[in-house]
Amino acid sequence: MSETAARRDEVLRARAEIDLAALRANVRVLRERAPGAALMAVVKADGYGHGAIPCARAAVGAGASWLGTATPQEALALRAGAGLPDDVRIMCWLWTPGGPWREAVEARLDVSVSGMWAMAEVTAAARAAGMPARVQLKADTGLGRGGCQPGADWEELVGAALRAEGEGLLRVTGLWSHFARADEPGHPSVAAQLTRFREMTARAEQRGLRPDVRHIANSPATLTLPDAHFDLVRPGIAMYGVSPSPETGTSADFGLRPVMTLAASLALVKQVPGGHGVSYGHHYTTPGETTLGLVPLGYADGVPRHASSTGPVLVDGKWRTVAGRIAMDQFVVDLGGDRPEPGAEAVLFGPGDRGEPTAEDWAQAAGTIAYEIVTRIGSRVPRVYVNE
Ligand SMILES: Cc1ncc(COP(=O)(O)O)c(C=O)c1O
Repeated sequence: MSETAARRDEVLRARAEIDLAALRANVRVLRERAPGAALMAVVKADGYGHGAIPCARAAVGAGASWLGTATPQEALALRAGAGLPDDVRIMCWLWTPGGPWREAVEARLDVSVSGMWAMAEVTAAARAAGMPARVQLKADTGLGRGGCQPGADWEELVGAALRAEGEGLLRVTGLWSHFARADEPGHPSVAAQLTRFREMTARAEQRGLRPDVRHIANSPATLTLPDAHFDLVRPGIAMYGVSPSPETGTSADFGLRPVMTLAASLALVKQVPGGHGVSYGHHYTTPGETTLGLVPLGYADGVPRHASSTGPVLVDGKWRTVAGRIAMDQFVVDLGGDRPEPGAEAVLFGPGDRGEPTAEDWAQAAGTIAYEIVTRIGSRVPRVYVNE
């Protein structure tokens, strides 16, 4: 889906402009927040919708020494296609049985192992590849999702890792975990998870593991919780300039700048009488004679249908609201009698400094989180990179 800078001046139906200077500046802000830790730029889900490869390159240029993805396929694609220096470490954590373990070992990925099935598959792959795997053991310190449970399960996993290290099949490069509620600063589960993480890593080290890195900090922990920084921080959303949650603070509070601007060209502007139903189901009726603008973006492009009648759009310097239902490819705004030219820019969200709404505004309109707003922008919307 990534488009080249050549599209910058092309007239497009719609575009997601990706400001790589903003991304680089955000990486530098995050590094300053965690000066004692290395930084893993999380570029899963096509760089949260921004384009994994350009974002990975920009992040590495700004000082990220690790990249993180969910799936091994995402990590393999980065290793093969991003043209990154060989010493950039790439980690992936979402494995299922039968996954591409051997390819991952050969591509020198750091792979997460949460349980004994994965330990068996990664050691078999290392044997077949004739080279040791780089394995990061994941502890469930309280998220209750992936990761190994503390106690007997952890003891068994650590023991198996030690035996495999002894046979030269792997090296345990990391011990790691993930927070459940770091975006709610001060929530007691955060301290409890940190305590559990210290206990589980200490136990693994006592038994003889010597990881390169211990890490647990996502964006909110990187921004607000120095105790969680350990050797490496793993920010995702903050690198794209979006705040993890209203409770954490605004992106501006941290000096972060949103990277993505989503805009479209008005496809039609027309005058209609009062009492005119608008879009499927007629959930909006014009209150009087007015003008309507047609925005050529819809839920197939990732504009959330839940923001029907609520999503904000900047047209001609004024905030307008989605009138009625968002359809698959288009939606309508009531321009209140204004008559911008067809082709005029409609900005759904961006950094906010031109007066446009932000991804957080859309999240609020759709009853979701800003992560989902940027991540779901579809492949039909060209990404246009600026400030490469
Ligand atoms: C394991 C892991 N680490 C780090 C991140 C980055 O989180 P955030 O985007 O909140 O910084 C994620 C994203 O959900 C993740 O799954």
